[in-house]
Amino acid sequence: MSHPDVAVVVLAAGKGTRFKSDLAKVLHRAAGRSLLRHVLEAVRPLGLGQVVVVVGHQADDVRAEAEAAGVAGLVTIVQEEQNGTGHATEVAMSAVGDDIEQVLVLPGDTPLLLADTLGSLLDAADAGHRASMLTIELDDPTGYGRVVRDDQGNVQRIVEHKDAGDDERAIREVNAGMYVFDRAVLAEELGRLDVDNAQGELYLTDVVEAFVRRDLHVAALVAPADEVVGVNDRAQLANVGAVLRERRLFELMRSGVTVVDPRTTYVDVDVEIGQDTVVLPNCILEAGTRVGSGVTLGPNCHLVDSEVEDGAEVTNSVLKQASVGPEATVGPFTYLRPGARLERGAKTGGFVEVKKSIIGEGSKVPHLSYVGDTTMGAGVNFSAGAITVNYDGDDKHQTVIEDGAFIGCDTMLVAPVTVGEGAFVAAGSTITKDVPPDALAIARSRQTVKDGWAARRRGED
Ligand code: UD1
Ligand code: CA
Repeated sequence: MSHPDVAVVVLAAGKGTRFKSDLAKVLHRAAGRSLLRHVLEAVRPLGLGQVVVVVGHQADDVRAEAEAAGVAGLVTIVQEEQNGTGHATEVAMSAVGDDIEQVLVLPGDTPLLLADTLGSLLDAADAGHRASMLTIELDDPTGYGRVVRDDQGNVQRIVEHKDAGDDERAIREVNAGMYVFDRAVLAEELGRLDVDNAQGELYLTDVVEAFVRRDLHVAALVAPADEVVGVNDRAQLANVGAVLRERRLFELMRSGVTVVDPRTTYVDVDVEIGQDTVVLPNCILEAGTRVGSGVTLGPNCHLVDSEVEDGAEVTNSVLKQASVGPEATVGPFTYLRPGARLERGAKTGGFVEVKKSIIGEGSKVPHLSYVGDTTMGAGVNFSAGAITVNYDGDDKHQTVIEDGAFIGCDTMLVAPVTVGEGAFVAAGSTITKDVPPDALAIARSRQTVKDGWAARRRGED
C-alpha cells in the first residue's frame, strides 16, 4: 500500500486528565508499546506521504516517542494550548504540504486500530467523496459525539454529547474521531470554526457539517467497535492491553506455537515465538523477546527483551536482556540479568544469578551461584555455592574460567582472576591469584581434628 498524496495528522497533544498521571496519556503502554506507537504502527503500512504528530502536553517526551517509531515522513508540531481537536488539526495543517490531496485525522489514543480499516476509509474517500469518517454503534454512547443523519441516511453533522439534546443523545451511532478530508476544503473550513459550544473549544467535528453545507457528501463507514475505542482511563488501558495480547497470542498459535493456557500467558505485541515451542502457564514475555522453535518455556517465566534459541528449556525463571543458546537449560529458579549469555547446551539451575557473563558451551552452573562479569569457557563445572567476587566496593572486575575447568563447591573467585584450562579449584577455596592450566588450587585453612573435644565439653569425660 502506498498513498503519497495522503497525510495523516495524529492528535496527541492532550493531557488525558482521567489517567491521573504525571505521564502524558499517549505515552502509557499497552502490550509493550505506547498508545501513540500503536497508532503509528497502524499507519506505517499505508505508506503515507506525511505523518504529522501534534504534540503539546509533555511535548518533548511525546515527540521523542513519535520519532523513535522511525516512520517515513514523520514530523511533529507543537500545539501550545489545547483549544480543541479543530485547533489541533489547524496547527497541524501548517506542516502539511500543498501537494497533499487528502488528510487522514486520527486520535493518538486508539491503540487497537488496524491498517486494513484505515485502508477502507481511504478507499471510501477515493471513491469520489471529499470526506469520509468512521463511526461505531454503541449500547452506551455517553460522552461521544453523535452522528446525525437525515431521512435518506446521509450524514448531516456531529453533535458532541455535551451539546446534544435528548433526541440526539438517544442516537447510538457515534463518531470514532477518525476521518479523511479533502485537504484544501479542510484547511478553509478549519479557519472558520468558532468556539460557540458547551466546551468553548474549536471542534474538528464541526468541519463535517461544513462539508455537508458545501454539498460535499460525507461517507460514514461503520467500523468494528473494538478497533476504534479510545483509551481515556487506566481501566480502558487494561482492557486494550488484554485485546492486544490476545490478538498476538492467536497469531502465534496459528503459526504453530502451543500455548497451554492463553488466559495466563502474557505476550507483548512484538514478541516472536517459533514453531513447536510449548508455552506452559503463567509466562510473561515482554517487548523485544524472541523465542526459537522447539523450546519449552514455563511454567512461571518472566522474559524481558530476551532471546531463547531453538530447543532450549526455560522453567520458573526470570530473564532480562539475556540470551539462551540452543539446547541450553535454565531453571527452575534462575535469574539471568542483562548481558547473560548461555552458549549451546549450557545449564544454569536453582538459585543461580548470572550478569554480563558468558557461560560456555555445555558448561554447568547447577546450584546456588552468582556469576558476574565472567567469561566461562566450554565444559566448565561451576559447583554448588561457587561465586565470582566481581565487586570490590568501587569497581567491577573480570573473571576468566577456561575450558574444562572444575570449580569446587563454595569457591570464591576474587576478580580479577583467571582459572586456566582444565584446572581444578578445591571446594571452599578463596582464590585471589590466577590458577595455571591443569593445576589444582587449594586456598583454605587446613582442617584440625581434636579427638574427644565435644564429649569433654558436655562434661562426659
Ligand atoms: C472526540 C470527538 C467526538 C468523538 C470522540 C471519539 C471532537 C470535538 N469530538 O471527542 O465526537 O466521539 O473524539 O473518541 O473532536 N487533542 C489535541 N489537542 C486538543 C484537544 C484534543 O491534540 O486541543 C487530542 C487528544 O489528545 C486526543 C484527541 O485529540 O488524542 C481527541 O481528543 P479528546 O479530548 O479525547 O476528544 P473527545 O472529547 O473524546
Ligand atoms: Ca477521547
